[in-house]
Amino acid sequence: MKVEVRYYSRSGNTKSVAEAIAAQAGVPAVSVDSADAQLRETADILFIGGALYAYGLDSHLKNYLKTLKKYDAKKAVVFSTSWLSKHSVDLIKKGLTDAGIPVETEFFYVKNTPSEEQLKDAAAFARKFL
Ligand SMILES: Cc1cc2nc3c(=O)[nH]c(=O)nc-3n(C[C@H](O)[C@H](O)[C@H](O)COP(=O)(O)O)c2cc1C
Repeated sequence: MKVEVRYYSRSGNTKSVAEAIAAQAGVPAVSVDSADAQLRETADILFIGGALYAYGLDSHLKNYLKTLKKYDAKKAVVFSTSWLSKHSVDLIKKGLTDAGIPVETEFFYVKNTPSEEQLKDAAAFARKFL
């Protein structure tokens, strides 16, 4: 099974979740602004996450979502962090849907900085799809 993990994180909160998911999947967590971010083969599962900033997504993630094509992933699973609002989840899901990528209804969300316990929950969440 080909699993990919992509994220964008300004201060590390979403990055921690991405890394917990990636470690569970045995793949690297790749920031969407890295040179390796482009998906080269169709992923069976794309875990993709980002945070909410001023009720929107960071432009790096927004632009990355716009580059995605239907054949990039058979299915996407979303994760996010924010102070309060889960609107980021909806925005990421919309970007994926607009690209034609089916999105898992369930998502993983943490308020602010994930605790060790929450990072274990993130890994357990990922395991369900692997
Ligand atoms: C400039 C700025 C704007 C933010 N706007 C929102 C917001 O509108 N709603 C919200 O719930 N959280 C907001 N947050 C909180 C971040 O989404 C939260 O700290 C998140 O965990 C940051 O993730 P990151 O470290 O992966 O970048 C904002 C944070 C910053 C720095």
